Amino acid sequence: MSRSLLPSERWVALRARGLRVEFPCFLAPMVGLSHVALRQTVASYLPHGSETLLFTEMLSSRRLPTERIGDRPETTFAEHERLVPQLLANEERFIAASLDKLAKMRPAAIDINMGCPVSKALKHNWGVALMGDPSYAEEVVRLTVKHSPWPVSVKLRTGLSDDPDYLVDFARMLESAGAAWLTIHPRIASQQRRGNPRWEYIARVRDAVRIPVVGNGDVQTAADAIALLRATGCDGVMIGRASVARPWIHWQIAEALGLPPPPGREGAAAPSDGFAEGAEYARALGCFLDVCERSFQPDDALKRLKFFVHWGGRWLDFGHELWRRMTNVRSLDDARTITREFFAVPQRMTARTTLAA
Ligand SMILES: Cc1cc2nc3c(=O)[nH]c(=O)nc-3n(C[C@H](O)[C@H](O)[C@H](O)COP(=O)(O)O)c2cc1C
Repeated sequence: MSRSLLPSERWVALRARGLRVEFPCFLAPMVGLSHVALRQTVASYLPHGSETLLFTEMLSSRRLPTERIGDRPETTFAEHERLVPQLLANEERFIAASLDKLAKMRPAAIDINMGCPVSKALKHNWGVALMGDPSYAEEVVRLTVKHSPWPVSVKLRTGLSDDPDYLVDFARMLESAGAAWLTIHPRIASQQRRGNPRWEYIARVRDAVRIPVVGNGDVQTAADAIALLRATGCDGVMIGRASVARPWIHWQIAEALGLPPPPGREGAAAPSDGFAEGAEYARALGCFLDVCERSFQPDDALKRLKFFVHWGGRWLDFGHELWRRMTNVRSLDDARTITREFFAVPQRMTARTTLAA
């Protein structure tokens, strides 16, 4: 496999705007999941010396201006994270005030959410609702670019209806409004995360714009990521649910592309069979628990631990049993004991599972 599968020239063009991306394999923004503990766990599997970006979960531009960064798990961050905070936003004064606050995170870039399909987002005319109103969406990008010292990207869906021509026009509009890159999750709003993502739409957008285009949707294995890159010619992949299940997928992809292993894993191969992955899950869970302990209040940590196992454990043959045991834990030490006991018996991970919504 060759590195040339990751077209680099579009990222290189962004260096002039202060953005360096060498391994465009991104952890997706996910509410309740893409916090510092998952980001640090994923970061421990990134290829040594290759710059990448880590998205936060979506942050409300109505809430950010009135809070202190780091006071909530959603805004807690670690030194040296190259972050892309994701904003749910549509009004200039809130955008400007939110960006002021986010400066504390020293972000590498800012992402605008144009994909969130929940009814609250539709009611407030943000998230995917912006895709139904191109001139307003254009204004939101222009305003964010105007106030942002950092490059601004947009994560979007196919739209409100299944119309790839509309998507392509919309993507061109985002580019001309100043978006630095686009991430496409090619499903319509009402699909949420169900149904097949139309990867061919990613290819159409990629052909229509000159900025980098990142593909997203149902990547479960490194082979899926390579298939997405090959099928669409896109400039990077974004991985959500599988990053929770197998955070080392980023190592597996790097390995497939001929990039170096993560620090401390020199000379080792990424786990590749079901039992090796089961053992790696225990290691990743240990890392996750340690960061939770350093970063969150105990109740916040336990809540996030349960959510992590709920989403990611599905790929383990007996993941439901691990989840059942974790739902009753009262402390992170209990969770460590359960982890030790559960993984004392070799556990197998499956490559793919039915992706629940
Ligand atoms: C629990 C959960 C929360 C999510 N929250 C967000 C979010 O805050 N912002 C966003 O743009 N997408 C969000 N998403 C969508 C993901 O970023 C991603 O587009 C989707 O899961 C498809 O990618 P995947 O198949 O790799 O998981 C969320 C997904 C999940 C499962």
